[in-house]
Amino acid sequence: MAEAFPTLLSPVKLGPLTLRNRIAMAPLTRQMAHADGTPTHEMAAYYGRRARGGLGLVITEGTYEQDTFQSRAYLSQPGIANATHVEGWKQVCDAVHARGAQIIIQLMHGGRVSDPRCLNGQPGVSASATQSPGWTLYTDTDYEKQIRNIAGPWPKVTFPPARALTVAELHAVADGFAEGARRAVEAGADGVEVHGANGYLLWQFITPKTNLRTDEFGGSPENNLRFPRLVGEKVRAAIGPDKLIVLRLSQDGVDDFVGAWPGGVDYARAVGAALKGSAYDALHWASFNWKDNRDPNSDRPMAAVLREASGLPMICNGGIADGPAAEEALTCGAADVVAVGRPIFAHPDWPYIVRSGQPYDWLPFDRKYVIQPPLDFGLHYPMGLEDPEWPLP
Ligand SMILES: Cc1cc2nc3c(=O)[nH]c(=O)nc-3n(C[C@H](O)[C@H](O)[C@H](O)COP(=O)(O)O)c2cc1C
Repeated sequence: MAEAFPTLLSPVKLGPLTLRNRIAMAPLTRQMAHADGTPTHEMAAYYGRRARGGLGLVITEGTYEQDTFQSRAYLSQPGIANATHVEGWKQVCDAVHARGAQIIIQLMHGGRVSDPRCLNGQPGVSASATQSPGWTLYTDTDYEKQIRNIAGPWPKVTFPPARALTVAELHAVADGFAEGARRAVEAGADGVEVHGANGYLLWQFITPKTNLRTDEFGGSPENNLRFPRLVGEKVRAAIGPDKLIVLRLSQDGVDDFVGAWPGGVDYARAVGAALKGSAYDALHWASFNWKDNRDPNSDRPMAAVLREASGLPMICNGGIADGPAAEEALTCGAADVVAVGRPIFAHPDWPYIVRSGQPYDWLPFDRKYVIQPPLDFGLHYPMGLEDPEWPLP
């Protein structure tokens, strides 16, 4: 078959892995785990279903990697913090591998934006003693009220003041990431993504407005990246050279949707330079529009700036809804792989639909299904491809 989107649909080497195409599923929190953080059978079916749709790579939802230091950020969030979690993830990794895709588990620490219902009365932790102006996300639907037995107005859950981590604690938190990564590999994952984006702990170090430190972990782009680099090094030491390690970055966060780096692309260049030679195999740029940079003096996509400055391959994400957009991101210097979030949630067969080259009516993502979506949710393509084959690389 002549491929409609030759770059998107060609295999690619990403760190130690070879992916069958350049389509990754972006990490999407679904809050489908058991209350103790163990992944469920439903999660295996959910991810397996999307792998069968033709993905090259699954990047899982944010997963707490340790029980100490209040890493957990959401109710019903999955963890990879103990042996029970490993057993749960094994079924997810098996389901994805059985359908020809590869999988990395996103390791996430909520920092100052952890839901206080997960903090056991303790303050959250952060780069500095600050308080997020936001409130916990994905909790405003009637559907979630129903599954959490909440009647009447939704209680708005704001974040308490966070305390600054000491240098000794930073090393302990980074060790927690390394242990989580080791368990992810034990569960069968092909690597991990370290979450440095979207307002969570590592973002709070990288973002000048939340990192007010005056020691070696703050005060300059290089210092702001020291903690994410430390995490990468410890993770690499724990899982070796044969597993993929990605660092996700963004300007904005769940409590700061319009956030921009001071200095715009100049700050991005410094971030990229600080990650050159780090333990990460690739970066992952997260945004709701992959083209934007929020810098009034430049129209270069931030992903392209970071990719060039770091010399690392880039997974680029945000508003990539169809084949032409994906192909453009891959051929303009912004991306080596694209990550697609809401469209792949809503259309599990997105890769096959795109590969067919046929026009398709992409229905919008429905917010009502953010939390614990019904398992059969997914809009099916009308092309009658019963069980499409996708060659392995
Ligand atoms: C419901 C929902 C849950 C999300 N959960 C995560 C997450 O766990 N980890 C993460 O890094 N990003 C998460 N994101 C951000 C997405 O990965 C992605 O950046 C965003 O949806 C934009 O990409 P898209 O236009 O392809 O959907 C989430 C987004 C949504 C809408």
